[in-house]
Amino acid sequence: MGVITDVADYLRASVPKEFLGVCMAVIVLLQISRIASKFFFFSEQRKPATAPESSCKDLNKSGIWTPVDFKTPTPERYPNWDVNKTKPLPYRPFKHNYHVTMGIRNMNWDDWIELDNEFLKYHKRKCERLAERREKLVITAPDAYDAAIELLEEFREWLPARYPTLFKRTNVGIDNLVTGESFNIVERPLKDNVDPMEIAAKLVQDDLAIMMPGEDGQYYLKAACILLAGFWRLADKFGMPLSEIHTSGDVPQFKEKLQMSMERFFVRMRVDRPVVRNNYFLQTDDDLGWSTAIGPEDNNDIGWDAAEQAHDITKVHFRSERQSLRRLPKSGGIVFTIRTYFVPITEIAKEPYVPGRLADGIRAWSDDVARYKGRRKFDNIVIDYLNEQHRKQLEAGLSLEEEPSQYPF
Ligand SMILES: *[C@@H]1O[C@H](CO)[C@@H](O)[C@H](O)[C@H]1NC(C)=O
Repeated sequence: MGVITDVADYLRASVPKEFLGVCMAVIVLLQISRIASKFFFFSEQRKPATAPESSCKDLNKSGIWTPVDFKTPTPERYPNWDVNKTKPLPYRPFKHNYHVTMGIRNMNWDDWIELDNEFLKYHKRKCERLAERREKLVITAPDAYDAAIELLEEFREWLPARYPTLFKRTNVGIDNLVTGESFNIVERPLKDNVDPMEIAAKLVQDDLAIMMPGEDGQYYLKAACILLAGFWRLADKFGMPLSEIHTSGDVPQFKEKLQMSMERFFVRMRVDRPVVRNNYFLQTDDDLGWSTAIGPEDNNDIGWDAAEQAHDITKVHFRSERQSLRRLPKSGGIVFTIRTYFVPITEIAKEPYVPGRLADGIRAWSDDVARYKGRRKFDNIVIDYLNEQHRKQLEAGLSLEEEPSQYPF
C-alpha cells in the first residue's frame, strides 16, 4: 500500500479501463445536471437546516444512494494504548518543496480514529467550546440525521474494539470509561435533544463532518461538529457543496488543480476504500480551538490580513490536520474526520532534519499558497529561527546525506 499523491493515479490503479469510460460518461452527465441544477434549484439545495419543508423532502427522496451491505472491519486493539502514556503521532507532512495536490493515501481501517494521551485535554477544550457557543459549532440538517446516527453506530462498534481501556459498548450505546460519560444512542429523541454530531465529537479528538450526496451529484456539508478548526467557521460553510467550501475559503489553485479530481473522487468513493491526507499550517497564537491572531471568532472579516506581525517565536504553533474520508454504507454520507495535531514550533524544531526541511517548505510556497497560509505575518521570525536551529543541528553533526527520503506523515 504505497503513498498515493495523485488522485488520478489512484483511480487508474484501482479500476479497470472499461469502467473508467463508463464513469467518465456518468461524470459528464453529472456535470451537465449540476450546471442545470444551478439554474433550477441551486438556491434551494443550499439552504441549511431551516430550509422549508419542501426542499427537505426533495433531498430525502433523492434516492441517489442505494444502501450497500458492508460492515466496517473490526479493528485490532491498539497495542498498549494508554490514556496517559500513548504519545500523539509525529506527523510532519512537509517536504523541501511544495505542490498543491489532494495528497490522499489509502487508509488502513485500524487507523480510522487516532487517540492519544492528549485525549482528555482535547475533550476538555471541546466541552468548553460547546458551552461557550454550541449553536455555532454543531449542526445536523434533518436530511443528514440518519447519517449522523449511522456514524454514532459505527463509533459504538469501532472505538471499544480499538481502545477497550477507554470505551465500552453498552446495550444502548457507548460509555467512556475514563470521563465517566455514558451515551444512549438508541432513544428518540436523544437525551436533552442533543445533536448526534456532538456526541460523536465528544468520543474522539477529531472534528467531524458529513457530506451528503445531493440530487445534482454534488456533495453538501450537512452535518458537523467543528470545535478545533483554528481558521474556519462551520456557520460560514454549512450547507455548501464541496466546491464552494473550497472556493469561498480561497483555497489556492482549487479550480485549476483540485476541483475536477476531488468531485470525481467523492462521486466514486467506495464504502470499502477509506483514505487519509495530511496538511499543515502555522499559527501565531497558541489557541487550539480558534486562532485568535486572525481576528475574534465573531468578527465579519477574519483572516491573515487582520493579523498582527508575529514577534514571539514561542507563540508560533505548527498545526497539522490529519483528515480521513470514508463512506457510510447505509446513508451514503461521506464522513470527514479532521484531527488536529498542535505543537509549538520550538518543539518540532528539535527533531532531526525538521527545521531545515520546514524552512525550505515554507520558502517553496507559491505566492497564492503563501497568501492563504499567512506567510508574510510570520516569516520574519520563523525563517530565521528555523535556519538557526538547522545550523545548530549541522554543527552537532547532522548528516544531510543521511536524511530519510520518506518522511513520516
Ligand atoms: C491517568 O492519570 C490520572 C491522573 O494522573 C490517574 O488518575 C489515572 O488513574 C491514570 N489512568 C491510567 C489508565 O493510568
